[in-house]
Amino acid sequence: MRIGIVGLGYVGLPLAVAFVEAGHDVVGVDVEARVVDALRRGKSHVEDVSDETLRGVADRFQASTRYADLAKVDAAIVAVPTPLTRNREPDLQPLLASGSALAGVLQEGQLVVLESTTYPGTTRERFVPLLEESGLAAGRDFYMAFSPERIDPGRTDFNLRNTPKIVGGLTDKCRRRAVRLYELVCDDVVAVSTPEAAELTKLLENIFRSVNIALVNELAILCDRMGIDVWEVVEAAATKPYGFMSFKPGPGMGGHCLPVDPFYLAWRAREFDMQTEFVELAGEVNQHMPYFCAERIARALNEQAKPVKGSRVAIMGVSYKPGVGDLRESPALRIIRLLREQGANVSYHDDFVPELPELGLRSEWPEEADCVVIVTAHPSLDVERLVRDAGLVVDFRGATRGIEAPNLVRL
Ligand SMILES: NC(=O)c1ccc[n+]([C@@H]2O[C@H](COP(=O)([O-])OP(=O)(O)OC[C@H]3O[C@@H](n4cnc5c(N)ncnc54)[C@H](O)[C@@H]3O)[C@@H](O)[C@H]2O)c1
Repeated sequence: MRIGIVGLGYVGLPLAVAFVEAGHDVVGVDVEARVVDALRRGKSHVEDVSDETLRGVADRFQASTRYADLAKVDAAIVAVPTPLTRNREPDLQPLLASGSALAGVLQEGQLVVLESTTYPGTTRERFVPLLEESGLAAGRDFYMAFSPERIDPGRTDFNLRNTPKIVGGLTDKCRRRAVRLYELVCDDVVAVSTPEAAELTKLLENIFRSVNIALVNELAILCDRMGIDVWEVVEAAATKPYGFMSFKPGPGMGGHCLPVDPFYLAWRAREFDMQTEFVELAGEVNQHMPYFCAERIARALNEQAKPVKGSRVAIMGVSYKPGVGDLRESPALRIIRLLREQGANVSYHDDFVPELPELGLRSEWPEEADCVVIVTAHPSLDVERLVRDAGLVVDFRGATRGIEAPNLVRL
């Protein structure tokens, strides 16, 4: 088959590679000329796709900035960003732009699948009308489905092949076409009745994580006051073989998904006279975590008779999670800003992020810091060395569990 992928980021690029590796030809379209140029030179900007992998698929993968190159594909999958505006409302601009551009090249018989995470109703009410400006009718002249992406960047045990894929078609035929498409690259395709059910499935998954992380974060703050080790409590609760699922506390949520997606549902729910209180409350608790962390660092310094102002604080790990360099919504950036506002002299170290130009910082190993803070524990982080060498270590990830030392403070 010939497959088109619109948006060659964390979601689109691995998807493109998967289809090529399954023996198909892929045209990838992205509006960023810089991204397309790099891909053409065999340079990947996504950790899950190595340069070597990219070179291995070069014969059958064409990257382009031109939607016209999609005219001959059998199916086009759209994986463009779905961020929030400054007022935390859905920003469908990239999604709508891709729909309009696709309409200009859409051909009879093509299948279009939207993968971008969004609120229920987007596919039918916002995307399809744009595509129909082509003069073709959805379900009759072309086929339309929604299929949420479940990729977890940096993860190796679950991938596109062995993670069940949800598909909701506009009509029965749309669904069947989309199921056949994903069966090329996924072992298990799960059909649901409508695009709306598929859209909401993805949001339920992310809200479930957001709410549970908020719960355990709230507990971590309480444990801090009570002098109880939250990590020990979570680990002990996880020995229950049923009815409990373990979530870890931390400095707050980052990435493109968890801090953003739940608000797509909250926004949509207001149209139905509903306040999604779990969503809002979880967002509130998780957004508060960097503030709690900055305050905890100040307290740890105070215990050593040092003020925040003028202290050298080194942040270990600034990406939002281990093993990737993704900085989107990363709580580390918020913690750095809060500490700077209080006059701290902040540096950072991150193997995946060589520099933070907007903060005027370059990654460096902390040599003489007053306080070293573990915000994201990349797999390569030598925790024992840190605790041995640093005057004070504050650990927000439980990376130092098993180590007890007078200079160590753990969330
Ligand atoms: N990153 C994840 O872990 C993840 C997981 C599941 C779902 N998702 C969802 O998948 C979608 C894509 O996320 P991502 O992380 O791949 O984003 P990304 O920013 O990494 O990649 C999106 C790409 O789309 C391109 N783009 C923007 N507007 C475009 C347009 N009009 N036409 C063509 N290309 C355009 C951008 O230049 C960018 O390269 C989002 O809705 C996200 O919520 C992401």
